[in-house]
Amino acid sequence: MLSIRLARVEDLTAMQACNLQNLPENYTMRYYLFYLLSHPQLSYVAEDGGRIVGYILARMDEDVGEGEEAHGHVVSISVLRSYRRLGLAKRLMLQSQRAMAEVYNAGYVMLHVRKSNRAAIGLYRDTLGFRVQETEKGYYADGEDAYVMRCVLKKDEV
Ligand code: ACO
Repeated sequence: MLSIRLARVEDLTAMQACNLQNLPENYTMRYYLFYLLSHPQLSYVAEDGGRIVGYILARMDEDVGEGEEAHGHVVSISVLRSYRRLGLAKRLMLQSQRAMAEVYNAGYVMLHVRKSNRAAIGLYRDTLGFRVQETEKGYYADGEDAYVMRCVLKKDEV
């Protein structure tokens, strides 16, 4: 049975394995651990009978200037190929967004995505209502541009 639950430290190896299979942006275990421990309410895994088949790693941005709204930041989301188009990424995003709003009073959530990543842009824009805020030229290590996307979080709707 497919279910979503909060990520735990002991899930990190499986989360990293999902990432290695799917994305060129790979992170060290230290990086995963740092975000998981900093904002443990914001990262989730999708499980199929005990096997981790997807995850979302998220944080609150802490460099918020005076008068600026608190906001969440999706660091990385990934679902194993054979589990795609089942709505898991949407569920992971919504769980994390709800916690950003409820636990940290976040006004919006933001993320970076490769300009060429059609599947992820479809998820963010068409399913979740994100909009492109700006383009960051050469953001990725291979020189590809990133879209910076944002979505307003309305506390009673997420
Ligand atoms: N093409 C177009 N739209 C898509 C696609 C696709 N291949 N996949 C998902 N979508 C959109 C659709 O609107 C879909 O709704 P529908 O199925 O009713 O049409 C909606 O997103 C929801 O799809 P989910 O089933 O929730 O998405 P899924 O669980 O398949 O995961 C994800 C999507 C995470 C982008 C997956 O394809 C993946 O793991 N890709 C590789 C890793 C990756 O690119 N991660 C994002 C990097 S950016 C970042 O991490 C901040």
